[in-house]
Amino acid sequence: MQNRLLNLKNQAIALIKDIHTSKELEELRMSLLGRRGKFNDLLKELPKLRVEERQPVGRMANEVKQTLNQLIQEKQLQLNQVGPSNKFFDLTFPGKLPAIGHLHPISQAIEEITHIFERIGFTRVRYPEIDWDWYVFETLNMPEDHPARDEWETIFIDTPPHPTKGKLVLTTHTSNGQVREMERVKTPPIRMLNLGKCYRRQQDATHTVMFHQFEGLVVDKHINIPHLKGTLDYFGREFFGKGIKSRIRPFNFRFTEPSFEVDFTCTNCRGRGCRFCKSGWVEVGGAGMVHPDVLRAGKIDPTKYSGFAFGWGVERVLRLKPGLNIADIRILYNSNVKFLKQF
Ligand code: DAH
Repeated sequence: MQNRLLNLKNQAIALIKDIHTSKELEELRMSLLGRRGKFNDLLKELPKLRVEERQPVGRMANEVKQTLNQLIQEKQLQLNQVGPSNKFFDLTFPGKLPAIGHLHPISQAIEEITHIFERIGFTRVRYPEIDWDWYVFETLNMPEDHPARDEWETIFIDTPPHPTKGKLVLTTHTSNGQVREMERVKTPPIRMLNLGKCYRRQQDATHTVMFHQFEGLVVDKHINIPHLKGTLDYFGREFFGKGIKSRIRPFNFRFTEPSFEVDFTCTNCRGRGCRFCKSGWVEVGGAGMVHPDVLRAGKIDPTKYSGFAFGWGVERVLRLKPGLNIADIRILYNSNVKFLKQF
């Protein structure tokens, strides 16, 4: 009888090991410990034993029953951990990588532009994106009612005006940083990159109400147009790649004299002329030599110092990057992961 008890225990241990589902385990439990199970079958023979054998065998039977119960419980716990399907689960299997995002293409472009200018000594600054009329127009040689203001479809804030600085506006361009930077630095040299958000009342395939601009400003002794041209060519090379040049064409801005519009070699046809650019050049923004009135507004003596400035949109240059050809810049703002993933 003792041997048969031991056999039952060993058999049960082997069977439990091979079990993979709760259902199988329950079936096994019934066949071992259930009312008509093997264990009870054995116990039925207990009365047949001699009296003095009954006690030790009975004790052993109890131990075996306890052990089996415990083993079944442990197995059940183990199966629970494996999950509801109770399929075999390899704990050493490498996990799924969590989805990790990355910087938005515009943020990436902002970082790239910042680093390009930092390498030639510019400092990135940020000035208010809601600013006084004074910095956005007035000190840039555009007094109230000047028709040149019409170029900037301005959104005004409905608050009481500043006694001397006028109304609050959502900055229409980053040129508001020019006089602010002159006030901050006081004595040149100035090499500023003001990069921030701008707002205009406009919305189509190439314009959004909110967009990003960067404004370069250099003021020092003997600054001249070749310095400006060299800086633009440098940017073209670094941002768009080798072989991309800048071209400046006479224009009129109130805050620069002379003023230019700035083009870069079309990255689509590399200057040969295509459906997209027609002439081989693509316009990106404006530039010029800082107007003496603007220097004076920033308390810098135009007889001692001169400077150049340039400014244009981050989205505008991003969509011209070779290989991108973003036809509608609104796609940059609609949070479409399929699009964003490609950057
Ligand atoms: N602020 C102008 C705009 O938003 C761009 C610009 C033109 C900036 C000429 C300049 C400049 O610094 O010199 O259209």
